[in-house]
Amino acid sequence: MNEKVLLAILGSPHVNGTTATMLDYAIHKAEKIGYNVTRINLYEKNLSYCTGCRACMNTQTCIQKDDIQEIVMWLQKCQMVLLAAPVYWANIPAPVKNLFDRLLGTAMEETSTFPKPRLRGKKYMLLTSCNTPSPLSWIFGQSSGAIRSMDEFFKTAGMKPIGKIVCTGASNKKELPKQTIKKIERCMK
Ligand SMILES: Cc1cc2nc3c(=O)[nH]c(=O)nc-3n(C[C@H](O)[C@H](O)[C@H](O)COP(=O)(O)O)c2cc1C
Repeated sequence: MNEKVLLAILGSPHVNGTTATMLDYAIHKAEKIGYNVTRINLYEKNLSYCTGCRACMNTQTCIQKDDIQEIVMWLQKCQMVLLAAPVYWANIPAPVKNLFDRLLGTAMEETSTFPKPRLRGKKYMLLTSCNTPSPLSWIFGQSSGAIRSMDEFFKTAGMKPIGKIVCTGASNKKELPKQTIKKIERCMK
Protein backbone atom coordinates (compact mmCIF):
# COMPACT_ATOMS: atom_id res chain seq x y z
CA MET A 1 0.00 0.00 0.00
CA ASN A 2 1.24 3.51 -0.80
CA GLU A 3 2.32 5.59 2.19
CA LYS A 4 0.05 8.60 2.89
CA VAL A 5 2.30 11.54 3.75
CA LEU A 6 1.08 14.73 5.36
CA LEU A 7 3.18 17.87 5.80
CA ALA A 8 2.04 19.95 8.79
CA ILE A 9 3.50 23.47 9.00
CA LEU A 10 3.24 25.67 12.08
CA GLY A 11 3.57 29.33 11.11
CA SER A 12 3.24 30.74 14.62
CA PRO A 13 5.95 31.55 17.17
CA HIS A 14 3.71 30.16 19.94
CA VAL A 15 4.16 26.40 20.13
CA ASN A 16 1.36 26.18 22.70
CA GLY A 17 -0.89 28.88 21.26
CA THR A 18 -4.36 28.58 19.74
CA THR A 19 -3.03 28.07 16.21
CA ALA A 20 -0.63 25.33 17.32
CA THR A 21 -3.45 23.64 19.27
CA MET A 22 -5.61 23.65 16.13
CA LEU A 23 -2.74 22.10 14.20
CA ASP A 24 -2.08 19.48 16.88
CA TYR A 25 -5.73 18.43 16.81
CA ALA A 26 -5.79 18.20 13.00
CA ILE A 27 -2.57 16.13 13.08
CA HIS A 28 -4.10 13.80 15.66
CA LYS A 29 -7.12 13.27 13.38
CA ALA A 30 -4.92 12.80 10.30
CA GLU A 31 -2.86 10.14 12.05
CA LYS A 32 -6.08 8.32 12.96
CA ILE A 33 -6.99 8.06 9.28
CA GLY A 34 -3.58 6.70 8.36
CA TYR A 35 -1.41 9.69 7.49
CA ASN A 36 2.28 9.63 8.27
CA VAL A 37 2.85 13.19 9.53
CA THR A 38 5.95 15.36 9.21
CA ARG A 39 5.67 18.50 11.33
CA ILE A 40 7.67 21.62 10.59
CA ASN A 41 7.89 24.64 12.91
CA LEU A 42 8.62 27.47 10.52
CA TYR A 43 10.02 29.72 13.27
CA GLU A 44 12.71 27.10 14.01
CA LYS A 45 13.85 26.91 10.40
CA ASN A 46 16.71 28.77 8.81
CA LEU A 47 15.14 30.50 5.82
CA SER A 48 16.66 33.51 4.08
CA TYR A 49 14.49 35.99 2.27
CA CYS A 50 13.51 35.48 -1.34
CA THR A 51 15.88 37.61 -3.46
CA GLY A 52 13.49 37.72 -6.41
CA CYS A 53 16.11 36.15 -8.73
CA ARG A 54 13.49 33.83 -10.28
CA ALA A 55 16.01 31.03 -10.86
CA CYS A 56 13.45 28.68 -9.27
CA MET A 57 11.19 29.11 -12.29
CA ASN A 58 13.64 26.77 -14.08
CA THR A 59 15.08 24.73 -11.20
CA GLN A 60 11.73 24.27 -9.35
CA THR A 61 13.67 24.71 -6.08
CA CYS A 62 15.19 27.85 -4.64
CA ILE A 63 18.94 28.06 -5.36
CA GLN A 64 19.74 29.51 -1.91
CA LYS A 65 20.93 26.62 0.25
CA ASP A 66 19.16 26.58 3.61
CA ASP A 67 16.18 24.73 5.11
CA ILE A 68 13.99 25.38 2.04
CA GLN A 69 15.24 22.22 0.29
CA GLU A 70 13.86 20.05 3.11
CA ILE A 71 10.47 21.78 2.88
CA VAL A 72 10.38 21.43 -0.92
CA MET A 73 11.16 17.71 -0.61
CA TRP A 74 8.23 17.13 1.78
CA LEU A 75 5.92 19.36 -0.26
CA GLN A 76 6.62 17.32 -3.39
CA LYS A 77 6.37 14.00 -1.54
CA CYS A 78 3.21 14.60 0.48
CA GLN A 79 -0.43 14.10 -0.45
CA MET A 80 -1.71 16.75 1.96
CA VAL A 81 -0.50 19.96 3.62
CA LEU A 82 -1.84 21.47 6.83
CA LEU A 83 -0.83 25.09 7.28
CA ALA A 84 -1.57 26.78 10.59
CA ALA A 85 -0.78 30.49 10.91
CA PRO A 86 -2.31 33.25 13.06
CA VAL A 87 -3.74 36.50 11.70
CA TYR A 88 -1.12 39.26 11.79
CA TRP A 89 -2.34 42.65 10.52
CA ALA A 90 -5.24 41.05 8.68
CA ASN A 91 -2.69 38.90 6.89
CA ILE A 92 -0.15 36.19 7.64
CA PRO A 93 3.06 36.37 9.72
CA ALA A 94 6.18 37.37 7.76
CA PRO A 95 7.88 33.93 7.88
CA VAL A 96 4.83 32.35 6.21
CA LYS A 97 4.81 34.97 3.47
CA ASN A 98 8.55 34.46 2.95
CA LEU A 99 7.97 30.70 2.69
CA PHE A 100 5.51 31.29 -0.14
CA ASP A 101 7.98 33.63 -1.86
CA ARG A 102 10.75 31.03 -1.57
CA LEU A 103 8.45 28.41 -3.11
CA LEU A 104 7.49 30.38 -6.24
CA GLY A 105 9.01 28.01 -8.81
CA THR A 106 8.09 24.93 -6.75
CA ALA A 107 4.42 25.92 -6.88
CA MET A 108 4.03 27.23 -10.42
CA GLU A 109 5.45 27.47 -13.90
CA GLU A 110 5.23 30.72 -15.84
CA THR A 111 3.52 30.75 -19.21
CA SER A 112 2.60 33.62 -21.53
CA THR A 113 -0.91 33.59 -20.04
CA PHE A 114 -1.84 31.98 -16.70
CA PRO A 115 0.63 30.27 -14.39
CA LYS A 116 0.71 26.47 -14.68
CA PRO A 117 0.40 24.63 -11.35
CA ARG A 118 3.24 22.33 -10.27
CA LEU A 119 1.67 20.67 -7.20
CA ARG A 120 -1.58 19.60 -8.81
CA GLY A 121 -3.84 17.10 -7.04
CA LYS A 122 -2.48 17.48 -3.50
CA LYS A 123 -4.88 18.54 -0.74
CA TYR A 124 -4.55 21.35 1.78
CA MET A 125 -6.19 22.58 4.95
CA LEU A 126 -5.78 26.09 6.39
CA LEU A 127 -6.01 26.86 10.08
CA THR A 128 -5.90 30.34 11.57
CA SER A 129 -6.81 32.24 14.72
CA CYS A 130 -7.29 35.90 15.54
CA ASN A 131 -8.34 38.11 18.45
CA THR A 132 -11.16 39.89 16.60
CA PRO A 133 -14.47 38.19 17.40
CA SER A 134 -16.80 36.81 14.74
CA PRO A 135 -18.43 38.15 12.55
CA LEU A 136 -16.24 41.29 12.75
CA SER A 137 -13.16 39.19 11.96
CA TRP A 138 -14.63 38.35 8.57
CA ILE A 139 -16.46 41.64 7.86
CA PHE A 140 -13.34 43.73 8.51
CA GLY A 141 -11.10 41.38 6.55
CA GLN A 142 -9.03 40.14 9.50
CA SER A 143 -9.29 36.35 9.19
CA SER A 144 -10.45 36.58 5.58
CA GLY A 145 -7.23 38.49 4.79
CA ALA A 146 -5.06 35.73 6.21
CA ILE A 147 -7.08 32.97 4.55
CA ARG A 148 -6.97 34.79 1.21
CA SER A 149 -3.16 35.10 1.35
CA MET A 150 -2.67 31.43 2.16
CA ASP A 151 -5.25 30.33 -0.39
CA GLU A 152 -3.50 32.24 -3.17
CA PHE A 153 -0.41 30.06 -2.85
CA PHE A 154 -2.17 26.70 -2.72
CA LYS A 155 -4.74 27.53 -5.42
CA THR A 156 -2.02 28.71 -7.80
CA ALA A 157 -0.08 25.50 -7.06
CA GLY A 158 -3.14 23.51 -8.22
CA MET A 159 -3.97 22.05 -4.81
CA LYS A 160 -7.45 21.23 -3.53
CA PRO A 161 -8.85 22.76 -0.31
CA ILE A 162 -10.41 20.39 2.21
CA GLY A 163 -11.03 23.04 4.89
CA LYS A 164 -10.34 26.64 5.92
CA ILE A 165 -10.88 26.91 9.64
CA VAL A 166 -10.81 30.07 11.74
CA CYS A 167 -10.84 30.36 15.53
CA THR A 168 -12.01 33.92 16.25
CA GLY A 169 -11.85 35.87 19.52
CA ALA A 170 -8.88 33.69 20.49
CA SER A 171 -7.63 35.89 23.35
CA ASN A 172 -10.76 35.05 25.39
CA LYS A 173 -10.49 31.29 24.88
CA LYS A 174 -8.53 28.93 27.06
CA GLU A 175 -9.42 25.85 25.02
CA LEU A 176 -10.38 25.23 21.42
CA PRO A 177 -14.11 25.95 20.98
CA LYS A 178 -16.25 22.85 20.31
CA GLN A 179 -17.25 24.40 16.98
CA THR A 180 -13.60 24.58 15.86
CA ILE A 181 -13.01 20.97 16.93
CA LYS A 182 -16.09 19.83 15.01
CA LYS A 183 -15.01 21.67 11.87
CA ILE A 184 -11.57 20.05 11.96
CA GLU A 185 -13.17 16.63 12.46
CA ARG A 186 -15.57 17.18 9.56
CA CYS A 187 -12.75 18.12 7.19
CA MET A 188 -10.35 15.40 8.31
CA LYS A 189 -12.40 12.36 7.34
C1 LIG B 1 1.97 41.23 15.18
C2 LIG B 1 0.56 40.82 15.48
C3 LIG B 1 -0.46 41.25 14.65
C4 LIG B 1 -1.79 40.87 14.90
N1 LIG B 1 -2.77 41.28 14.05
C5 LIG B 1 -4.04 40.91 14.28
C6 LIG B 1 -5.08 41.34 13.42
O1 LIG B 1 -4.87 42.03 12.43
N2 LIG B 1 -6.35 40.96 13.71
C7 LIG B 1 -6.65 40.17 14.79
O2 LIG B 1 -7.82 39.87 15.01
N3 LIG B 1 -5.68 39.71 15.61
C8 LIG B 1 -4.39 40.06 15.38
N4 LIG B 1 -3.38 39.62 16.21
C9 LIG B 1 -3.71 38.66 17.28
C10 LIG B 1 -3.43 37.21 16.86
O3 LIG B 1 -4.01 36.90 15.62
C11 LIG B 1 -4.01 36.26 17.90
O4 LIG B 1 -3.47 36.55 19.16
C12 LIG B 1 -3.78 34.82 17.53
O5 LIG B 1 -4.70 34.02 18.22
C13 LIG B 1 -2.37 34.38 17.86
O6 LIG B 1 -2.29 33.00 17.70
P1 LIG B 1 -1.08 32.14 18.30
O7 LIG B 1 -0.93 32.52 19.74
O8 LIG B 1 -1.52 30.75 18.10
O9 LIG B 1 0.12 32.49 17.48
C14 LIG B 1 -2.07 40.01 16.00
C15 LIG B 1 -1.02 39.58 16.83
C16 LIG B 1 0.27 39.98 16.58
C17 LIG B 1 1.38 39.47 17.48
